[in-house]
Amino acid sequence: MDRQGMHQDLEKVLISQEEINQAVVRMGRQITRDYAGKRPVFVCILKGAVMFFTDLLRQIDLPLTTDFMAISSYGSSTKTSGVVRILKDLDHDVLGKDVLVVEDIVDSGLTLSYIKKVLGERGARSVRLVTLLDKPQRRRVELKVDYACFEIPNEFVVGYGLDYQEEYRNLPYVGVLHPRFYEDEEAAETP
Ligand code: IMP
Ligand code: MG
Repeated sequence: MDRQGMHQDLEKVLISQEEINQAVVRMGRQITRDYAGKRPVFVCILKGAVMFFTDLLRQIDLPLTTDFMAISSYGSSTKTSGVVRILKDLDHDVLGKDVLVVEDIVDSGLTLSYIKKVLGERGARSVRLVTLLDKPQRRRVELKVDYACFEIPNEFVVGYGLDYQEEYRNLPYVGVLHPRFYEDEEAAETP
């Protein structure tokens, strides 16, 4: 399928730049209050959370540090298989630290539940989960998401960091990709 340009490939805009902005400011204030007196570590899950991470951190008034982790979940580009592998690990120790893991979207919940388990095993004092988007209908494991900007329906979204086959991350808003882009993939998976 030929791409006609990013904006034309979308079925609709789901969350505008303005709405993202307001939600990020609100969440930044909330986390600043909740972590008053602490020195938390913010972990960005590469690459999808990059835009959200950098915008959110600029709204937080705390002596925080940052670290980065890259995860690969096996499966097709629109569905997770549940198998998670660390491609790039943290640079710093989390022992005794208050950690906030920042993700772009929680879908099945498998990625974050795995990361939360690993960081707990490494002796983090606390691990909380922060996400831009939450698709609660798709959950396959029980998972407490501590901070979510938006709950969204079960649709495949792109933009503001989220990709389809590594593209569309640079859209400044979140939109629903036209299903014509992955219909072939869905058909291929139907038994
Ligand atoms: P989970 O382990 O199923 O919760 O998967 C989370 C990961 O799947 C996210 O970090 C995204 O990379 C990817 N993902 C899930 N839903 C979407 C979507 O609608 N658009 C883009 N990526 C998605
Ligand atoms: Mg992705």
